[in-house]
Amino acid sequence: MSISVVGVVGAGFMGSGIAECAAVVGKHVVVYEPDERPLQRSRESLEASVAKAVSRGKLASADAEQVADRVLYTTRLGDLGGADAVIEAVTEDARVKRELFARLDEELPDAQFLASNTSSIPIAELAARTSRRDRVLGLHFFSPVPVMKLVEVVTAIDTSEATVSTAEAFARDLGKHPILTRDRSGFIVNMLLVPYLMAAVRMYEEGFATREDIDEGMRLGCGHPMGPLTLCDFIGLDVLYAVCDSLYEEFKRPEYAPPPLLKRMVVSGHHGRKSGRGFYEYAPAATGAPA
Ligand code: 3HC
Repeated sequence: MSISVVGVVGAGFMGSGIAECAAVVGKHVVVYEPDERPLQRSRESLEASVAKAVSRGKLASADAEQVADRVLYTTRLGDLGGADAVIEAVTEDARVKRELFARLDEELPDAQFLASNTSSIPIAELAARTSRRDRVLGLHFFSPVPVMKLVEVVTAIDTSEATVSTAEAFARDLGKHPILTRDRSGFIVNMLLVPYLMAAVRMYEEGFATREDIDEGMRLGCGHPMGPLTLCDFIGLDVLYAVCDSLYEEFKRPEYAPPPLLKRMVVSGHHGRKSGRGFYEYAPAATGAPA
């Protein structure tokens, strides 16, 4: 059965991007957040992104007008009740996610799947808070969601094959390329990406090279669209810190341990592009380019 109404929990950067992708391909979307302000920001960011997609020739302007109309923003969890499936994209906090999954289990007894966009929290831990572990899995999107083609489909210990097939088909419906991964911290991509990014942070922390030279090295030498420190800022240093912590907790390997500088930047509120300061400084309407 295909998914025509999608619930998205969390109206941050990832949740907004997932909502946009679903609305662009004609699905109806309900975005839930307990507070009005993030919903307002989400609506604005969707409109800006859709306008950008039109200006880049990725979306016809006639279709663009309908995209926003397909998205309902709500502060009531009960409004998710009519969704065929839900994707949770709230902050990387295991306690918050566990409680949410217990509530989603109650609110959506017929949902085809309950997915988490977590990058590192065990899906099994979230499934355990529901009465249908077979219909819980991970759907890990990449930032910026409207642009990045990949979705990691994370199969937890009790996820059924039917749920995996439904979720893979859903990802393809969104125009994404699903890859299958088991339920362990970091899945495929972050297990590879995080040690690389942390090596760059350590290199910078040790004063071995400037931030610009580290970034240019990988951009111009290896063809990466962004250098590692710019990418850290783009992902968000708070998000990366949480991912490192989970990976280190899971594997106890030094390459996953967050470097001391990262911790100090996070506690000082230097979270990267979104806070105006990370490894680089950003103007208020930053687009990802260092100031
Ligand atoms: N909707 C649809 N398409 C859009 C769009 C939008 N809103 N905005 C841009 N695009 C398209 C453009 O048309 C262009 O497509 P083309 O290559 O076919 O012409 C492409 O996206 C690139 O757009 P721009 O030219 O505007 O932007 P840049 O060239 O400056 O690229 C970037 C910006 C895509 C962010 C690029 O710098 C990039 O790929 N950076 C790396 C991002 C990355 O690594 N993300 C993964 C992070 S890890 C993660 O998310 C996991 C988490 O768990 C930590």
